[in-house]
Amino acid sequence: MPFRPRYTGLIERYRDRLPIHDNTRIISLGEGNTPLIRLNNIPDLLGAEVEIYVKYEGLNPTGSFKDRGMTMAVTKAVEQGSRAIICASTGNTSASAAAYAARAGITAFVLIPDGKIAQGKLAQAMMHGSVVIQIKGNFDEGMKLVKEVAERAPVTIVNSINPFRLQGQKTAAFEIVEELGRAPDYHCLPVGNAGNITAHWIGYCEYSSGSGAQVTEACVFCASEGHCRFASGAIVGNRPKMVGYQAAGSAPFIQGHMVDNPETVATAIRIGHPQSWDHAWTVQKESGGWFDSCTDAEILHAQKLLAEKEGIFCEPASATSLAGALRDIKTGKIAAGSTLVCTLTGHGLKDPDTAIQQSTAPVLTIAAELSRVQKAIEDNLA
Ligand code: F0G
Repeated sequence: MPFRPRYTGLIERYRDRLPIHDNTRIISLGEGNTPLIRLNNIPDLLGAEVEIYVKYEGLNPTGSFKDRGMTMAVTKAVEQGSRAIICASTGNTSASAAAYAARAGITAFVLIPDGKIAQGKLAQAMMHGSVVIQIKGNFDEGMKLVKEVAERAPVTIVNSINPFRLQGQKTAAFEIVEELGRAPDYHCLPVGNAGNITAHWIGYCEYSSGSGAQVTEACVFCASEGHCRFASGAIVGNRPKMVGYQAAGSAPFIQGHMVDNPETVATAIRIGHPQSWDHAWTVQKESGGWFDSCTDAEILHAQKLLAEKEGIFCEPASATSLAGALRDIKTGKIAAGSTLVCTLTGHGLKDPDTAIQQSTAPVLTIAAELSRVQKAIEDNLA
């Protein structure tokens, strides 16, 4: 059998495109390289001539896309001599930070909104031995506190305002282009802080831009003046229209201003003050994409549709990308004949409570008798 090298994570795979030195100690759990699954049944149900792929980021080591950024952020934090990291989180960042800190042998402090994160995520932060700080406030308040405390205490912030996070996350775009042989026409993502949509755009631009271009103003992404690797001037390949969907109760990009009391069943994106506000608007304008919102009912419907019709279980926030895309396909805003990718940012097992609450599948409780089992089969055979 031909020898196939062991996959050891996205930093090793994309080393030449990441700010990594030859002797850097890499903190990895084998993240990245997630499946790009073509939907078979949902497009048929829609009767739509579109190719829909989902990038199943829930299959990263801690069950979300955050691991792509965290491998970079923690690797760089350790390289720079940091002994502790800190983040505010709606759950997935804290789970990821806790795991990568454990792997690196450093301490993670995680600030989470009390009672507003999914059970699986809390279990992860606790199991990996992070210091869990529940605040009587929401994510946005936690983020503000983290920024303030990091000025006073020896801790490295690993939220997506840490530029190494976006560097790691841009690799999802590389993987998609390599697998499809081109960029999709549309790339749909759930948007909270807007770090991930920004990271994907960096990835697509970098992939298609050859060696970059001269810029006159400082680049919004890499802050470089003069020569920029991401500058639009040098784009040679195709890039997708980037489409960001938010939950209706937490939709600052649709309202056009910050939202103080965000609410949604999709707790991962219960964010009213996005940290990458300016970047995300640049992405929207440069790519020719748009922002829109989905109701909680639309989000849960899409989550269930994916689980029941395609066998793919993602958490509610993740389903926002598909929920919005389905609507835009129906209205023709996403053109017939196009290829689109929806990112499924986190695994469904993260939030079992929401899944069980909305499930309508029959759960039968019967006596442990053959005849009763037989009857259950007869009654339920399609
Ligand atoms: N989907 C999931 C499952 C998330 O956990 C997040 C963000 C997003 C989408 C939005 O990504 O912020 O880059 O626009 N979760 C962060 C956290 C805020 O703390 O886990 P974004």
